[in-house]
This record gives sequence, C-alpha cells and structure tokens, in this order.
Amino acid sequence: MKAIHHSFGLWVLLAMFTFSSCEIINEANSPSDKLYQYGISAPNEVPTLGRVLFYDTRLSANNTVSCASCHKQSLAFADNKKFSRGFDGEHTTRNSMAIQNIVDNVFNFASFVDSLGVMGEATALFWDGRQKVLQTMVKEPIQSHIEMGTTDLEQLATELSQIEMYQTLFSNAFPDQEIMPENIATALSAFLVSIRSTSSKFDMHLNGIETLTTLEQMGKDLFFDKYNCNSCHQLQAAVNGYQLAGTGEFGGFADIGLDEVPADAGLFQVTGMEEDKGKFKIPSLRNVALTSPYMHDGRFETLEEVIDHYSEEIKASASLDERLREPAGGAKKFDIPLHDKEAIIAFLNTMTDFQMTKDPKFSDPFPD
Ligand code: HEC
Ligand code: HEC
Repeated sequence: MKAIHHSFGLWVLLAMFTFSSCEIINEANSPSDKLYQYGISAPNEVPTLGRVLFYDTRLSANNTVSCASCHKQSLAFADNKKFSRGFDGEHTTRNSMAIQNIVDNVFNFASFVDSLGVMGEATALFWDGRQKVLQTMVKEPIQSHIEMGTTDLEQLATELSQIEMYQTLFSNAFPDQEIMPENIATALSAFLVSIRSTSSKFDMHLNGIETLTTLEQMGKDLFFDKYNCNSCHQLQAAVNGYQLAGTGEFGGFADIGLDEVPADAGLFQVTGMEEDKGKFKIPSLRNVALTSPYMHDGRFETLEEVIDHYSEEIKASASLDERLREPAGGAKKFDIPLHDKEAIIAFLNTMTDFQMTKDPKFSDPFPD
C-alpha cells in the first residue's frame, strides 16, 4: 500500500496475476458478453487493473489512503475499526462494509434467480442504499472529503496517465482509449465484482461436502426456525446480502430497534419517507466472524453483544420491523438462553471463507 517502485519484480508479479485472474470474471454469470457491450475487449485485464487501483494510495488526495486501507482482504474487505480514518485523519461516519458477492447490473445479470428460484435484483449499495450502480458508487469514496479527497477525477486520470505502469495496464484493459474517469470506475467495479465467496464451511455443508457439528447444526436450526433470523438475512441465497429480502425497491432494509430514536436516519436520507427512519441495509452474514465491530455504527464489538441485542435490548422505535415486534406491537424480547446464543454463534462462525481471505487474486499487488 505504499508508493510503487518501478522494479522488474513488480512487472513479473503483474504479469503473473494478470495470467492468474483470467478465470475470475467468468465465474460470475459469464458477464463477459456485457463487457463487450461496453467496448471492453479483454475482460480479464479489467479486474486486474481494478485490483491495482484498489490498492494504490495515489488515488487519494495526499497519497496516503487506498480503498484497501478501509477494506482489508483478511477481514472480508471490511475494517476492524468502529469508524475508519480517511486521508486527512478524519473518521467516516459509518462502519466500513465487507465486500463480497456483489451483484451488479453491468457485470452480473440485472436480475438473477437465487437458490430458492426467486427472481431478484441487486439491492442498493451502502448502509443507506444511496447508490444502485456500482460504476457510479466507486467514484464516491475517491471523491469523498473524508475518505480519499480526490475531487477532480479528470485530474486523477491525467496523473495516472503519466505513470508507465498504468499506461500498460489501461491499454491492456481498454485498448485505444484514453485513461479517463469512466475507465477507472469500470476497472474498480470489475475487481469488486470478481471478489466471490463460495467456500465457507456453510457452503460446503449446503453442497453436501461437510457436516456441521452438533452445536453448529443446532445454531443453524435456531437461526432458520426458532428465531427466524433468516427471514431477513437470507443465508441460503447464492448472492447473499445482495438479494431483495422483501418486496419493493428497498425490501432489503430494516430497522432492528437499536435505538428508540435513531441518531442516523439511514434509508430515510434516500427516500425521505418517515417510515424509513432508522432502516439500514440488511448485511450479509457471510464472513461475519471477521467483520467486527458490528452494525452501521460499529456499536457492538462482539457477536455475543449482537445476539444480546436481539435477545433483550430491541427498542420499540417507530419503524421497528414487524418481525421484531410482539403481536401487540411492542418490541420483541427473544430471551435467548445462553446455550442457544452459543449455538447461533458457532453457526455464524461456519460462514467464514478462508479461501477468499487468502486468495492471491484479491491480494495487495504491491510488495513491500
Ligand atoms: C476511509 C475509509 C474508506 C475508504 C478509503 C474506502 N471506503 Fe468503501 N466504505 C467505507 C465505509 C465507511 C462504507 C460505508 C459507508 C456508508 O454506508 O455510508 C463503505 C462502503 C463501501 C462499499 C459498499 C458495500 C455494500 O455492500 O454496500 C463498497 C463497494 C466500497 N465501500 C468500495 C470502496 C472502494 C472501491 C474504495 C476505493 C475507491 C473505497 N471503498 C474506499 C470506508 C472506506
Ligand atoms: C427484521 C430483519 C432482521 C432480523 C429478523 C434479524 N436481523 Fe440481523 N440485522 C438486520 C439489519 C438491518 C442489520 C444491520 C442494522 C444496522 O446496522 O443498523 C442486522 C445486523 C446483524 C448483524 C451484524 C452484521 C454486521 O456486519 O454488522 C448480525 C451478526 C445479525 N444481524 C444477526 C442476526 C441474528 C442472529 C438474528 C436472529 C436472532 C437476526 N440478525 C435477525 C436485520 C435483521
């Protein structure tokens, strides 16, 4: 994540991962046809370029912060801070999010069929769902005055076009085109979409390859049946975290009663609808053991604290989700016994995908 040295070693490395990433994009619903529609002739070169950009601090105004500063591979591309530090030392106002299995309208099909056979569409991006198009979304952190501070993307494109390595990488990815903001965004998006997680113990269990322990199996039953966690989190869906968990454009959002009166308005900031105050995107629980702290504001350090919330601390906020209310309307108290809590956490731990967190295709291309 430091400045790149134009060494021979780096070129060998780049050549190696260009080669090794050939398969990445094809795994995801063979989106290469879509890429061709966008005038991109060599799909495998696009995520490769995106990976280099993702790890390059030169995308920030003072060359100190890259996307990877707040999205770490070992943490499923989340951050272990409540709020992350931007280029100027300021902190983000929300907790960084994991990046995996993103469904995007350009790189994946606009709508898809999940493992239940339900047609879905990509849910919106960010905790409040303010972006729907990945290619637009990725420009936001670069330009954000807190995150990376590079307000002028044309200027950034000009700077990158003076770097020899990028001349090669861009011309491989986008032959006969200038280095321009749109191509920076496309490459970053292609890299993000290439980050797939399919190898957790839970995946192996669904595929009949691995058996859960008694405790994990008990946790699974509690998660799916007794406490109905899955009515929101939809773990079985192939693209979990990005499918619509309800109906309508913002069906994948919910208020889980963290506060009586939410300090962060969440989805309301996007829709302006009173009933959306305190609603946030239902996060994927894939790799959840790695993504502490939890919730949009990183208020919980541990999974135990999260379960305690559902067990005893749900507040009767105005927009509290029906699934977390008593029939009379008040906040539900699940009163989850200790052994059930342990079982749920054991089950959540089966969601960790060590293959993804170690996959060299997604790792830092800049050696120390
Ligand atoms: C200073 C820390 C920081 C940096 C740098 C940063 N991010 Fe983020 N990222 C965040 C935070 C915080 C959020 C949640 C923001 C929100 O919901 O308002 C987020 C959200 C996201 C999401 C949304 C995931 C989802 O499921 O909705 C994606 C994708 C993402 N970032 C990609 C990037 C890319 C690409 C870059 C580099 C161009 C980048 N980020 C740079 C902190 C950062
Ligand atoms: C009504 C929908 C709904 C139900 C039911 C639900 N959740 Fe959640 N869950 C959410 C939402 C929304 C968030 C994020 C809330 C926020 O940040 O404001 C969340 C967050 C979480 C997180 C933290 C994830 C992270 O990355 O920060 C965990 C862990 C979790 N839920 C587990 C569970 C368990 C276990 C159950 C069952 C006891 C459950 N949930 C039931 C909607 C739900």
